[in-house]
Amino acid sequence: MEKEITCVAPPNIALIKYWGKKDENLIIPLNNSFSITLDSSDLFTKTTVRFCDPKKNEEDKFTLNEKPQKLASHKRIVNLIAKIREKSSLPNKDDPIEIDSMNSFPTAAGLASSSSGIAALTYCLGNLFEVYGTEPLQLDQVEIGKSTKKQEGKNEENKQVADLLRREKLSAISRQGSGSSCRSMFGGFVEWIAGEKNDGSDSRAKQIFPKSVWPELRVLVCVVRSEQKKVSSTLGMRRSVETSEYIDKFSTKVVPKNIKQIKQAIQSQDFETFANVTMKNSNAFHSVCLDTFPPIFYLNQDSKKVIDFVHSWNDIFGTQVGYTFDAGPNPVLIMLNKNLPSFLDAFVQTFQIENLVNQPLQQILKDSQFN
Ligand code: DP6
Repeated sequence: MEKEITCVAPPNIALIKYWGKKDENLIIPLNNSFSITLDSSDLFTKTTVRFCDPKKNEEDKFTLNEKPQKLASHKRIVNLIAKIREKSSLPNKDDPIEIDSMNSFPTAAGLASSSSGIAALTYCLGNLFEVYGTEPLQLDQVEIGKSTKKQEGKNEENKQVADLLRREKLSAISRQGSGSSCRSMFGGFVEWIAGEKNDGSDSRAKQIFPKSVWPELRVLVCVVRSEQKKVSSTLGMRRSVETSEYIDKFSTKVVPKNIKQIKQAIQSQDFETFANVTMKNSNAFHSVCLDTFPPIFYLNQDSKKVIDFVHSWNDIFGTQVGYTFDAGPNPVLIMLNKNLPSFLDAFVQTFQIENLVNQPLQQILKDSQFN
């Protein structure tokens, strides 16, 4: 059988946002960003890549959610494969490949799947084409984000260090497929360092803390109705760079300050600061969107109701919950495990959310109906 690699990658949620590029082609961001990688059996991308017989297949093939795709119309993926081939020294690197990718995300949810999708693909391709190393990254069947697995012996420790370094280098390739995807190369808390070099080689993700640094933390991804036509992140940030005056302050002042604050808050497990910085950074990012001309409205009435609800809750009980929103109306809520049951109870009652998938780690609230 031809060589085949499978991997599962989770999405990440930015707590301190990436918005705007210094270089659009290479996807070099204006500022560092900071995220938490989800560990959810509801939200992931599973990808398999394999070489196929050059006599039978002439072209690379791509299947997404069981539907064969016209690869040429997925320009970023074509570009990613080319970049990986460029870096590979395998004698058969020009043989055609087959990519098979599945998103577990509910299709109607409008949740971005690009961060896990591109990360999974880069990781698989890096292994298949033996880029930045000849040994497969751990097992053939890998789960990105499980990099903190306990292993024994010096040899294993060295392997793990090499593995982390290789993920970092691969993240610089993943970044060129979709910026935020580079952070999904690691689990736990991850920083994407914008970098200094014009070629983007130092614009990479790094794991700052493993997930185990704060095991009580919970993330809830909620799905609300979305009536608006979505402005993609790529287009939205281009428009912000061209027209917003506030984006400069956001990227040079607000974000560096917030990253420093959030790292300290995680280290000292200071939930109040952690939640407040997360909420403020999300609000600052959406202020950039509002300051863009014409303005971009990612938040809708449902999002605003959730924001009000969280603040009212925190006013009564102290800061127990934080929210953040990416380029869409879906709230992502963070809280400590001990506060989850009472908050969730009140939240569900208030918003009459149905079809809760109740899991110990993350929750996705599907098909929510807000009044
Ligand atoms: C608001 O990574 O989707 O989610 O690099 O153009 O593919 P491209 O954009 P993308 O932007 C994500 C923007 C964000 C914030 C974040 O994830 O940091």
